[in-house]
This record gives sequence, structure tokens and C-alpha cells, in this order.
Amino acid sequence: MATAISIQGLTKKYVDVWQKQEVIAVNNLNLEVQEGEIFGFLGRNGAGKTTTIKMLLGLVFPTAGDAALLGAPMGDNNAKNFLAYLPEETYFYDSMSAWDLMDYYGRLFKLPKNVREQRISICLEKVRLQKDAWHRNIRGYSKGMRQRTGIAQALINDPKLLFLDEPTSGLDPIAHAELRDIVASLKDEGKTVFLSSHQLADVELICTRVAIIHRGKLLRVGTIQELVAGQRTEITVQGKELMNGTLAKLKNISPDIEEQGMSTLVIQSDDTAQVSAIIDVVRGADCSVLSIVPHKRTLEEVFVETVRREEESL
Ligand SMILES: Nc1ncnc2c1ncn2[C@@H]1O[C@H](COP(=O)(O)OP(=O)(O)O)[C@@H](O)[C@H]1O
Ligand SMILES: [Mg+2]
Repeated sequence: MATAISIQGLTKKYVDVWQKQEVIAVNNLNLEVQEGEIFGFLGRNGAGKTTTIKMLLGLVFPTAGDAALLGAPMGDNNAKNFLAYLPEETYFYDSMSAWDLMDYYGRLFKLPKNVREQRISICLEKVRLQKDAWHRNIRGYSKGMRQRTGIAQALINDPKLLFLDEPTSGLDPIAHAELRDIVASLKDEGKTVFLSSHQLADVELICTRVAIIHRGKLLRVGTIQELVAGQRTEITVQGKELMNGTLAKLKNISPDIEEQGMSTLVIQSDDTAQVSAIIDVVRGADCSVLSIVPHKRTLEEVFVETVRREEESL
């Protein structure tokens, strides 16, 4: 499979003129995205997602580092014909309709009139913008309709690689789910999507791989399965002996123990060897195991844990 995005040492430093200090928005980022992926780029507000995308698209000049998109060096004009970008904040001309806007972008890509007309219909249908709004001024559109128009606009040149910067934030639940599904369907058309988001449930549903960045630094990258691996097990044990020496022994194995009343303990562990050791101790102490329940971790838990750990280490 070909590489869609290849990033080496990409760095952006801003000088904050008010605080007179340097902000490292993106810090030595290395990343590869394969063609056909929906790649989730996750991070809190201010993590450096938008800056990364803008550098890749040639809208912000990097302080250091390099990247290639679809095999062409970053900023290559020919490659731009195959790229698309939905910015975080879309500013449309309010007095244009979605149709006129699409036609305008189609002309920027020098598409002939018949191709434009055909594409505009296909794109607006794909994003399920209601037909009676196609020729109405964008001024009267809801946020969801604007986002649909934004994605349609991004599709006008039939791009191979799309950069979508938080496309579903601020939408109502129905519009949200529909737009998420539209993004997911781009994969079936063989397109590659670089999706910046902090909607972790969406990302978990539709992304092939994800990267977590924090303060400009890449903390983790992998498939969702790889990231959520190492499930947590909750063991509930009971017995009168527990509160004597046994509790201390168990705490030595896993400190994450909650005492429930005089004779019940709930122990959490995300290590299978620990789980076996806990069960051995409990059995040896003439106590009983009431339940062993594995909990699959969510991407949200992994995200929070990864970012917290990084914060604590700073
Ligand atoms: N034009 C700018 N000038 C100075 N600092 C900026 C500028 N753009 C972004 N930053 C800073 O860079 C960091 C990353 O911002 P951004 O890329 O927008 O993050 P995200 O998209 O993940 O929310 C933030 O600390 C932000 O304040
Ligand atoms: Mg942003």
C-alpha cells in the first residue's frame, strides 16, 4: 500500500508577542499515513492539530522538518489538485448558495461546466444537503448544513486525500452521526482521510489508526485495537481472612483495591500476570473469588490516561 502522508521532524514554533515567549505548537513530529486510511489525529485544544494540517497544506511555514503528500513534496502545486481541506472554522460568502459556492470552487480547479454541474449534484447529494436548500443563500443555513456544504466543497475536485479539521464538532446528535457516516463512506471510495478530532467515540468507530498529540508532541500512534489493548480486570473477592495479612499481600500485587464492608474487596488490574497472582493469594488464604469481570477499555480512557501521564511527567 502506498504512503499518503509521510512526515519527518515537522516542527512549528510561534513567538507569542504578548508574553514574549516561544510556543512550540508542533514538536518534531514523525508520522506516516497509508493510502485508504481514515487516520484520526487526536489532541486537546491547543495540542497542535490545526497547525500540523496547515503546515502540510502549505498554509503555515514550518520552522523545521519536511513532509510528502501523495509522493509529492509538501507545498507541491500539482499535488494540490488531489488534496482537499475542510478548515475548523468555515467562512462562506453568506450571500452565495451552496450551489454557487461549489461552482466557484469548481472553477478554481478549472473544471469544465458540464463536469462542474455533475459533480456539484453528486457532492451535495453525498453530504445529504436537503435539495430545497441547494440554491438558497448560505446565510439561512444551520450549522449542520454549513458543515455539509463544507464537506461537499472539499469533494469538488474528487480529491485523493482529505484533511478534515474537527468536522463534527458543535453539531446536534443527528447531524453529527450523519456527518460521521459520510466521512466513513469516503473510505469506501478509496479516499484517504486525515481527521482531526476530539470526538473520541466517532474516531473509535470510523478510524483505522490514530495518533495522540499533546503540546505538539506525538505521544502514541497505532490501530484502535493496539491502543485499547491491555484490558482492565475487576476481581471481587470475599472472606473473613481478607482484612488480616491477606489485604497487605494483595496490595503488594495491585495497589488499586477498594474495601467494601468488612469482608469484600474489589481489585482492579490491567496485567494478566497480576490477575493470576491475586487469585493465587485469595485461594491460599481460604477466601473466595466472587467474580472476575474483564472491562474493555475505550479510546477515551486510553486518551485521558495517555495525556494525564504526560502532564504528570512534565
Ligand atoms: N498564529 C499563531 N500564533 C501564535 N500561536 C499560535 C498560532 N496558532 C496556534 N498557536 C498556538 O499553537 C498551539 C497549537 O495550536 P493549534 O494548532 O491551533 O491546536 P489545535 O488545533 O490542536 O487546537 C496553541 O498553543 C496555540 O495557542
Ligand atoms: Mg484546531
